Amino acid sequence: MRQIIPFNDNWLFAKPGEAAQAVTLPHTWNAVDGQDGGNDYWRGTASYSKHFPMPRIQPGERVFLEFNGAAMSAEVLLNGAFLTCHEGGYSTFRADMTELLQDENLLTVKVDNSENDRVYPQKADFTFYGGLYRDVNLIVVPQEHFALTESGTPGIKVTPEVRLRDREAYVMVETRQTGGSEVWFEIPTETGKEFRRAPVLGGQAVTIIQLKNVHLWDGVNDPFLYTVTAKLVKNGQVLDEISVRFGCRAFSIDPDKGFFLNGHSYPLRGVSRHQDRAGIGNALTIEHHKEDMAVIREIGANTVRLAHYQQAQEFYDLCDENGLVVWAEIPYITQHMPHGRDNTLSQMRELVTQCYNHPSIVCWGLSNEITASGPVTEDMLENHRLLHELCHELDSTRPTTMAHVFMLETDSPIIDIPDIGSYNLYFGWYLGELTQNDRFFDEYHAKFPERVIGFSEYGADANPQFHASVPERGDYTEEYQCLYHEHILKLIDERPYLWATHVWNLFDFAADGRDEGGKKGENQKGLVLFDHKTKKDAFYLYKAAWSKEPFVHLCGKRYVDRAEEITEIKVYSNCESISLYVDGKLTEEKLGKRIFTFSIPLSGEHEIKAVSGEQSDCMTIRKVAEPNKDYLFRKTEIVNWFDKEDYKPDCYSIKDTMGALSQNPQTAAILGRMMQSMAAKRGDVAKEANSNANLQKMMAGMTLESLIKQAGDSVPEAMIRQLNAALQKIKK
Ligand code: GCU
Repeated sequence: MRQIIPFNDNWLFAKPGEAAQAVTLPHTWNAVDGQDGGNDYWRGTASYSKHFPMPRIQPGERVFLEFNGAAMSAEVLLNGAFLTCHEGGYSTFRADMTELLQDENLLTVKVDNSENDRVYPQKADFTFYGGLYRDVNLIVVPQEHFALTESGTPGIKVTPEVRLRDREAYVMVETRQTGGSEVWFEIPTETGKEFRRAPVLGGQAVTIIQLKNVHLWDGVNDPFLYTVTAKLVKNGQVLDEISVRFGCRAFSIDPDKGFFLNGHSYPLRGVSRHQDRAGIGNALTIEHHKEDMAVIREIGANTVRLAHYQQAQEFYDLCDENGLVVWAEIPYITQHMPHGRDNTLSQMRELVTQCYNHPSIVCWGLSNEITASGPVTEDMLENHRLLHELCHELDSTRPTTMAHVFMLETDSPIIDIPDIGSYNLYFGWYLGELTQNDRFFDEYHAKFPERVIGFSEYGADANPQFHASVPERGDYTEEYQCLYHEHILKLIDERPYLWATHVWNLFDFAADGRDEGGKKGENQKGLVLFDHKTKKDAFYLYKAAWSKEPFVHLCGKRYVDRAEEITEIKVYSNCESISLYVDGKLTEEKLGKRIFTFSIPLSGEHEIKAVSGEQSDCMTIRKVAEPNKDYLFRKTEIVNWFDKEDYKPDCYSIKDTMGALSQNPQTAAILGRMMQSMAAKRGDVAKEANSNANLQKMMAGMTLESLIKQAGDSVPEAMIRQLNAALQKIKK
C-alpha cells in the first residue's frame, strides 16, 4: 500500500556564499526582506539539501518525491545526478527517485526566484517569495500504482453531472495508472455504498456511478462532500489505493441575473486572498490556512478569489468543506512576456489537473490585468486563445474568465476570448470619483447585454492609524475605506447581474515595492491587517451585509481624540435596531439596515455603547482642542496655496484639469515629470496609468490638485509648491 512520508525536517539552506543553516520546511528566504519595502528583496538561486538513508521499501516498490511549492523554479539532484526540474512556484510536482537511491543519500534542490522573461509572475503588485514554502513528501507506492507524475495529477478525476429535476447525479470517475488489471471504485452514500469495477485499458479505467437522491454540495448552506475510493487490483489483489472527495453541484451564469447554484439564485459576494502573512511570508502552515478560512466565514462571504496563482491544496479543501465558491487562476499577470507562453500553458495544465476535483472551483482565470503594461498584441491574443482551449480540453464543465484592468477598452478583442468576464475597477481610489464605478457597469451592461460581467477587484488602502472626521480619497484613513466600501456595496446591491464580486483584498499583503500610506512594503487594501487578526472597520460593513451571526460593531474605536464639536458615531450591524448610550444614558434608538449613524455633541471624555438585544459594543472617545496629528497621513495641510495674493489666475496652476495641462506642451512636460516620480512609489496600476491613452481620457476631467491629494506623501509638499510655481510661470 502507498505510504506518504513527510519530508520537511532536517534540511540545510544556503544562499550563495553564505554558511548553510538548518531549516524545517515550509521555508521562504524572503519572510523579512520581502515585506519591508524598497523593492530590494533578495531574488536568486539558493540551495536546500538533505541527507537521508534509504527509505525502507519492499522489493519492487517505487519512491516518489513530491514538492507542493518550490518558488519559483527548481532543479532537483539526488546524489549529484539530475532528477527533475520545474518552472512555476505554485503547483505540485513529483519525480520517481527510485533508480537514484543509495544506502545514504544527498538530496539537493536549487530553488530560484530570480528575474527572467519566461516564468510568471515577473511583474505584479505582490512579493515573489522564494523557497520551498510548502510541504515536501516521499510517496512510496507499489510497482503498479495510480499515476503521480503527469502535471502533478492526483491520479483520479471525478466529474459529477447533476440532474436537478431527478435529484440524481451521474458521477464519472477516471483513473490513470501503471499496471493493474482492474479498478474497484466505491462511494459511501448516506444509505449504503455504491461499488463498481472497471477494467484497465491503455493505462486508464473509467466508470459512471449513478447517485440517486443525491445530496448536493450547496455552497455555504450545505457543503456536502462525498468520497470516492479507487483500488488498483490484479489477480484479486489490491495493489494501490487512493481516495478523493467531491461534491455534486450544478451551476449556471446568466448575463442578466448572475450566478445560480443548483438552480437557485446565488449571487457570489466575497473577497480575494493572497497566501502570505506578516513575518512569515508564504511559508504557511495548515493552522494559518484554517485561521484565514475562519475570517472568511466570519465575514460571511460565499466566494473567494484565490489570487493571483494556484494556492495550497489545503486551502481549496477548506473551501470545499466550507462551501466557498472559488475563482482559481494562474499568475499570468500585469505584463505579457513573449517568451512566457509555454509557462502559462504548463501552469494552467497543472492548475486544472491538480484542482479539478474541488467542487468549490467554478472558473479558471486566464490572466489578470494582462494589458496593464502594454497594448493588446496578436501574441497576447494567441496566448489567451491557447489557454482558453487548454482549459476546455482538460475540463468541459467550467468556464474560463479574465480580470481586466480598468483602462482596457470594453470592445477589445481580448474580452471575447474567455467565456465570462470581469473588471478590476479602482475609481474612487487611484483616480476619479466613486460614481464612475456605477457608470462603468451601467454603460457596459447596456452596451453588451449578452456578456457575463463581474467585479473582480475593488478596494481602497487604509492604515488604521489614520483618521478623519471628513474622510477623503487618498487620505488612507479607516473612515475613507468605510465610505468607499459603503458606496460599492450599494452599487453591487443595485446590480444583480454582476455574476461575482470580490473585495481586493481580505488581508493586507506584502508588495515590497510599495511605500505609501505610512507603511513600507504593504498593500493596505485589506479589510484585515497583515497580522490576519486585527479587523479594520470596513470588515464589519461586509459582515453586516453577508453574515447571519448577529453582531454590533462601533466604528472609530481607534479614532479616540476628536476635535469636532459634534461627532458622528457609526455602527455596522446586521440587527434591525440600535440603541446608542452615551455615558450610560440612552440617547437615541434607530431602526435601519447595516449602517446606523448618530451625531453626538462632544465635551470631555465619553463612554459610547451601542446595543441591540444581546449584542453590544463600546468605546471611549474624547474631545480635544486640536486635531491629533498622529491621525493624519499627511502631516501638513495641502491647502491655501491659492489664498496667497501672488496667485495669477491667468497662468496655469495645480487647480487646472489634467486635460487642460496636457494640451499645452510646456505644462504637459512638467506634468509628465511629476507623474513619473509619483508612480515610482506606488503599485503597478498607478505606474501604468501614465502611459495609457484610455486612462488619460478618463483622467482628463480631474484637477491636478485632486490627483496630488490622492497620491499622499509620494509627492512631498516642497515639490507641490515647486510644481505650482513652475505652472504659474506659464501663461494660459
Ligand atoms: C490590481 C492588481 C492587484 C493589485 C491591485 C492594487 O488591480 O490586480 O494585484 O494589488 O490592483 O493596486 O491594489
